[in-house]
Amino acid sequence: MKVFWTYPDIGREEIKTVKEVLKSGMISYGKLSYRFEEELASYIGCKHVIVANNGTSGLVAALMALNIKKDDEVIVPTYTFVATANVVLAVGATPVFADVDETFNIDVKKVEEKITNRTRAIIGVDVAGMPCNLRELRKVCNYYQLALIEDAAESLGAEYENKKVGNIYSDVTIFSFHSSKIVTTGEGGAVATNDDQIAHKSHLIVRQGFLGGVHYEHECFGLNFKLTDIQSGIGICQLKKIEEYISNRTSNAKRYKSALTNLGVEYQRCTQNTRPVWWIFQALFKDKEQRDKILQSLLNNGIEAKVCWKPLHLQPHLSIYNQNNEKFPCAEDLASRVISLPTGNKMPAEHVDYVIKQIKLALQYAH
Ligand SMILES: Cc1ncc(COP(=O)(O)O)c(C=O)c1O
Repeated sequence: MKVFWTYPDIGREEIKTVKEVLKSGMISYGKLSYRFEEELASYIGCKHVIVANNGTSGLVAALMALNIKKDDEVIVPTYTFVATANVVLAVGATPVFADVDETFNIDVKKVEEKITNRTRAIIGVDVAGMPCNLRELRKVCNYYQLALIEDAAESLGAEYENKKVGNIYSDVTIFSFHSSKIVTTGEGGAVATNDDQIAHKSHLIVRQGFLGGVHYEHECFGLNFKLTDIQSGIGICQLKKIEEYISNRTSNAKRYKSALTNLGVEYQRCTQNTRPVWWIFQALFKDKEQRDKILQSLLNNGIEAKVCWKPLHLQPHLSIYNQNNEKFPCAEDLASRVISLPTGNKMPAEHVDYVIKQIKLALQYAH
């Protein structure tokens, strides 16, 4: 059996929509993208959504909209996908790493000691679709007058205190629509906010500072981060099925949880008051040696498992920002023991069972 990392669901409706867009000739950014923005805002419950060509661009637009620039510092968890820190570098600012806790998300207790008079923002990441501790991060941001950016690339549809992420506590939230994500447009992303000014600025940055019209007058500096109508058409179809996707991921996660608990294998802890969307399932083995053996055995048996991720402070181009050679014990421990397993929008339960069976077999030889 082959078990894939991603199970995107591109059905008849997506194909029909793409054909219609192609035939219409209106294939760049246009009315379908506006519609996708409106439908995303309505799903999330927030005031504004601006779509972008990927989540990384969405983050750059958010940082620029907040006027984060050279000499500024932005606190990021060291345990995240590299884009979270790369975007800080892209605007000329400095990433400052903070450790995480057993939820794999930024440890709010570790954030405060990282704040200096250059700090401008904190980026909280919803790792693997698990919302970070937004309530506590908001308190810190309010006290120190910092912006709270939520990197929800992996968590569209997740809820925190019964509200969708993107509509609670953060100043601005970004999403990704990469093929592995909860909703996909191939590549794609979005910025969500309830703040009119951040929305206006993000909109300008995504579209060359141009608000339309025939005279090519540009209100300010901007870039081209636009999503096409071909992609937005796909996104509109996908969004209609999001609850079905989350439900499949949740039931796959449940399957992993009960089987792994019986095998004595740990996994990502939940943040309180959340509905995670289980972008992937983070299983935690006894130690690195056992993890490496099991990972190899899963790969040998056709399972596309991964290790998400090597912490940022250990990545060659980012280690220079860990000036004091600080240790981040929790992130390092999680990264040494984790195997990231697929949960997939359309991943069948039998594939999950096959992964579990292979873990069980491998554990017999890797105590
Ligand atoms: C946590 C996190 N942040 C940012 C991104 C960047 O999104 P994109 O790949 O759409 O640029 C990703 C994508 O995988 C991600 O997982």
